[in-house]
Amino acid sequence: MKRDFISILDWTSEEIRSNLDLAVELKDQTKEGKCPHLLQGKTFGLFFQKPSLRTRLSFEVGITQLGGTSIVLTEQDFKIGERETVSDVARVMSRYVDCILIRTFSHQMVLDLSKHATVPVVNMLTDFNHPCQVMSDMLTIKEKLGRIDNVRIAYLGDSNNMTNSWLNIAARIPLDLRIGTSPKTLPDMELVRKIQEIGISSIKVTHSATEAVDGAEVLYTDVWASMGEKDKITERERLLKEFQINSILLQHAEKNAFVLHCLPAERDKEITDEVIEGRQSVVFDQAENRLHAQKAILVQLEKWNQV
Ligand code: CP
Ligand code: NVA
Repeated sequence: MKRDFISILDWTSEEIRSNLDLAVELKDQTKEGKCPHLLQGKTFGLFFQKPSLRTRLSFEVGITQLGGTSIVLTEQDFKIGERETVSDVARVMSRYVDCILIRTFSHQMVLDLSKHATVPVVNMLTDFNHPCQVMSDMLTIKEKLGRIDNVRIAYLGDSNNMTNSWLNIAARIPLDLRIGTSPKTLPDMELVRKIQEIGISSIKVTHSATEAVDGAEVLYTDVWASMGEKDKITERERLLKEFQINSILLQHAEKNAFVLHCLPAERDKEITDEVIEGRQSVVFDQAENRLHAQKAILVQLEKWNQV
């Protein structure tokens, strides 16, 4: 049966947990030079309406390692929804490829694409969320802390697609999630309440960076102005400067807390150069894990599609 990975909420807690185990297994096999060709003969169509380094490379390399083939399309090839409708694109692509992957602005467009596609759809980032990133981040947490449950995470800075992804995963895995942001950059409070009501995780939204970071095991940040809203950076710098991850703020966290950033980073804005280059930063291990976590996601979707 066709299943998608458009949001963390598409999968159950058990499915997420076993997929992270599969990611660990595939990572070990890859490091030993024995990555199984589980996607042999499968073709993946990747469509990008926004720039990407990590997402594009990690998917293309991962598909190659698993024996599959990837084809990348961009806005230069066609403008989805303009040259032809989303539903026509979904139906045509479904006749050629075994899975559609998309990075775009509108989350609704990805949902519409899925509605008309007969093959699995993977969300490679929308304005609303970035589920592949947060799955990879959970893999990094699993490796570094040896557990994923009840981790104390401080998410600092702008409320964006990464904040929403953390909120979503908190509906599946118990977390102590503290969101530190300004009153003018609040996350979607309806989503916050919905996740709080699910009752799996503790979710706190605070305007005090030190309160968010107090005793945290993981500090996380992202750019203050996401793709498509770079014109807002001056205002965001003014609103969010107290939420910068720097060495003084880091002192409020647990002694061996580690620092994550999905990258690309704007050094000395949301995070200082000193911290991102410091001993507590694991941002490149985190970037590598995109490769391993996403391979597991594609293998799982392919398995479900066969049933
Ligand atoms: N973190 C991330 O998604 O990076 P890219 O935008 O380079 O793909
Ligand atoms: N919030 C960022 C994430 C980049 C991976 C953006 O959407 O630009």
